[in-house]
Amino acid sequence: MSEVKKEAVRSEGAVFILFGATGDLASRKLFPAIYSLYREGKLSDKFAVVGVARRPKTREQFRSDVFHSIHEFARYKGVETDPEWIRFAEHFEYLSLDTNDTEGYGRLNAITQELEAKFDIAGNRLFYLALAPNLFGSVAHNLKAGGLLDSLGYHRLVIEKPFGFDLASATELNEEIRQVFHEEEIFRIDHYLGKEMVQNINVIRFANAMFEPLWNNKHIANIQITLSETVGVEDRGGYYDHSGALRDMGQNHMLQMVTMIAMEAPGRLLPEDIRDEKVKVLRALRGFAGPEEVAKRVVRGQYAAGEMKGAKKKAYREEDKVNPDSETETYYAAKLFVDNFRWAGVPFYVRTGKRLPAKTTEVVVEFKKIPDNVYLAKSQNLLPNLLVFRVSPLEGIYLKINAMQPGSEGTVIPIAMDFCQSCQVGINTPEAYERLIYDATRGDSTHFTRWDEVALAWQFVDSIASAWAQGSGELLPYPAGTWGPEAADRLLGEDGFHWWPVSGQEESDVIWVAATPM
Ligand code: BG6
Repeated sequence: MSEVKKEAVRSEGAVFILFGATGDLASRKLFPAIYSLYREGKLSDKFAVVGVARRPKTREQFRSDVFHSIHEFARYKGVETDPEWIRFAEHFEYLSLDTNDTEGYGRLNAITQELEAKFDIAGNRLFYLALAPNLFGSVAHNLKAGGLLDSLGYHRLVIEKPFGFDLASATELNEEIRQVFHEEEIFRIDHYLGKEMVQNINVIRFANAMFEPLWNNKHIANIQITLSETVGVEDRGGYYDHSGALRDMGQNHMLQMVTMIAMEAPGRLLPEDIRDEKVKVLRALRGFAGPEEVAKRVVRGQYAAGEMKGAKKKAYREEDKVNPDSETETYYAAKLFVDNFRWAGVPFYVRTGKRLPAKTTEVVVEFKKIPDNVYLAKSQNLLPNLLVFRVSPLEGIYLKINAMQPGSEGTVIPIAMDFCQSCQVGINTPEAYERLIYDATRGDSTHFTRWDEVALAWQFVDSIASAWAQGSGELLPYPAGTWGPEAADRLLGEDGFHWWPVSGQEESDVIWVAATPM
């Protein structure tokens, strides 16, 4: 979309029709994101939000809830008596609606039209479904039947994961939605794609002469992607016990990060060109010859009782709404291969888990070692170079190289060139949801997942899930507060590698010697 057109869309504004307005996501992420966009002038004054949920609530109660969520979670804090806050809050309306109540959509349309008239909005409507996916299809149909798609202007559907439970259910869901919305109107959220450092992967790769020439199997030994969490399932036992780590994180965030690392440079920086390249990576993912190969290349674990920072943590099976005999994995690690010219033979090790010792998302690119017959490598046992993308909670990029120890007679030590973005005073990085909502209002779908990406990711994940369902791959317990089953170390160990320590990892766990920062 051209700059001129973007500006036109912004000045026309939009109404956000937010289903699931009393939920956790709305209060923690969506209201704060809308507020930040407003404060930063990325939303014109021509915007309005209709919060939709079943719970009865007055408009005043809703506005007060929105205020409290912003106060607690937003980057910018509001003061309830500030004229600016009051002006902002006036853009919010609430409708209590059961999503199956087809009559109610007429009321929703009427409220939307009133807001459009009040704020001079040209009929653009963004429907955000922060709902269980089994409701996506019926809500889409009800929106149409209720006349909500009859306005002049754009109609966009933003939907949250999980997009289905497997390929079959995702296809069914997609077909239902596609009866109402075109693919270009559907914005499937994977909030990892809104993270600053995930977006930065392409910039670092394609804007630097010193990385791209090395970005292949001649120079890279392996890639390691860690998405570790300290939390357990908290109050999401009902959902999670049905899903598990593979579907919850492996199908989406993790494979998306693999595509960002592995994709070719797109010919043009356009959403479809970029997504085409990501799809090619998913197509090149090596499948599994059978359940035995799944058992060899994939590890699944479940947290048992343990201790974290001196506090006792219960086992997964003792969590609320979790089956006491549950076979659901809370940890998933795998060795993946992207079978194309660039990546042939380079393992991509991925791991994610709950109740691990640190909350960290990091990508480590391990370069091949200097040949051992070079005298320096031989005498000093040099460590490989690493390029590390720190995605969260620390944001930055970090390069490990070898250099001479100061004052020594040629002793080589690893040193770090460390750019910590989140440590810089004055940088107040936008939250993932700010970027994504902003992009959806501009019609930029680059950082949303297209249907073919989703389908290929499910196809891959289904092959693992079905092998597990046939009893392949033992579910391995690991104590809460540890780095998961040892089998995940063996995945790398058998190739002569090991997991590099990630930020937040205890000193005692760190395999690499402390570096001297430059
Ligand atoms: C969600 C998963 O998609 O991502 C959660 O459903 C997980 O289980 C969360 O906790 C992690 O997101 P973040 O941004 O905190 O790393």
